[in-house]
Amino acid sequence: MHHRLPSRLAALAVVTLIALTSGCTGETVHGRPGASGLRDPYFPKAGNGGYQVEHYALDLDYDPAGGRLHATAVITARAGQGLSSFNLDLSGLDVESVSVQGEPARFNRTGNELTVRPADDLERGEVFRAEIDYSGKPRPVTDPDGSKEGWIPLAVGEGAVGVGEPVGSMAWFPGNHHPSDKATYDITVTVPKGYEAVSNGELASRREEADGRTVFVWHAAEPMASYLATVAVGKFEVTTGRTASGIPVYSAVAPGEAAASAAVLARLPEMVEWGSGRFGPYPFSSTGAVVLPAHTLGYALETQTRPVFSGAPGSEELVLHELAHQWFGDSVSPKSWKDMWLNEGFATYAEWLWSEDHGGPSAQQHFDAYLAGDTDVDEAADSAWDAFPPAAPPGPKDVSSAPVYGRGAMVLQRVRQEVGDEKFFALLRGWAADHRYGNASTAEFTAYAQEKTGHDLKKVWDVWLYGTGRPKAP
Ligand code: ARG
Ligand code: ZN
Repeated sequence: MHHRLPSRLAALAVVTLIALTSGCTGETVHGRPGASGLRDPYFPKAGNGGYQVEHYALDLDYDPAGGRLHATAVITARAGQGLSSFNLDLSGLDVESVSVQGEPARFNRTGNELTVRPADDLERGEVFRAEIDYSGKPRPVTDPDGSKEGWIPLAVGEGAVGVGEPVGSMAWFPGNHHPSDKATYDITVTVPKGYEAVSNGELASRREEADGRTVFVWHAAEPMASYLATVAVGKFEVTTGRTASGIPVYSAVAPGEAAASAAVLARLPEMVEWGSGRFGPYPFSSTGAVVLPAHTLGYALETQTRPVFSGAPGSEELVLHELAHQWFGDSVSPKSWKDMWLNEGFATYAEWLWSEDHGGPSAQQHFDAYLAGDTDVDEAADSAWDAFPPAAPPGPKDVSSAPVYGRGAMVLQRVRQEVGDEKFFALLRGWAADHRYGNASTAEFTAYAQEKTGHDLKKVWDVWLYGTGRPKAP
């Protein structure tokens, strides 16, 4: 109470200052700064408030010999409030210039935040175009769990890959780097002769420049979360084809991994068709894979339309897992990083289903194997899947830990046990259809599951999804 007067005085002073700086024309000042983070429970600074991106046009010119990137990002976004300034997430690199609506804009950088101050305030609802010219040597980002993402060079001079789960995309382009803000993308990559450049979606064109460099223009037509964007530059072997229903396939494989990848990648088209039967129509207009040299990353990633593998995929299940993410994670994306089990639990469950449909152990047998720690049936059965509840990872280092995968899949099997096959598969398809190209939270899933199946599933949620300790066999 006692500081009410001073704060009112301060407010008056600010108003006066604004009136003075806006030239006392009597115009209303309609902008305020957009938030510098979206307060994600695990990555609070990821993303930015005050606008939503509609489209990214990235023009990346990469030199594998020097590891340098020269780039332009043109971001088309809609202001959700009056904006005097807004932030983009960007890690490392040098920003050379920024313009908004064609006018040079002032900018400054603190940590991973690039703050842009347009010459004129943006109005609520206004669609605006921001252009950022930047360059430098993009670098890897180390996650809270110790994995590497961001921009990872291959062996010296061989190329590089850009990946971004959960926050590494800020190491190679400025953006609203939180899964809740999805946008379409055009990614143009210029590389020296002899290198391939692979990204998301379809290759719209490929041309040789007069100076001998090659320009690859990639177009990702469906909304994409920025953590699912990828660019791989390397001396890859490219194969193209179509699935039985006509979806174009484009895969790029490091030559040293080609022999070991051939058999498993040959099954990808069949997996797309299988997934369409189980989960509903494949959500994207292209598919394929990128196989990097072994050990480039310590993991595979479900980059949209074109998952990335670190060396030849070690199993059919791994390819199936990344493909299943196209429905669960990529098309239906998490609202926050806390909802990661909606990605990983579902993709793990898809592995169990693929096994069930192809003469392997059934999903129920996988579930039982986890309870018994039987690694003959499932190699991950003795993982620490009971360490925490899948819907509540203890911290940011746990969003990709065993319970999010294995126990997340067990939640789905528990639902199937309660509601029966017919309702369960209708639930999976309905979930993918209702949230296609959008975002969803755990609370939305549990409410939807109950409504769609007509079953009270509270005990399943309480024990398997949110409960601590090791649940007993039902
Ligand atoms: N989402 C990837 C998968 O398909 C794993 C990503 C691992 N990333 C990490 N920072 N641990 O399972
Ligand atoms: Zn996964």
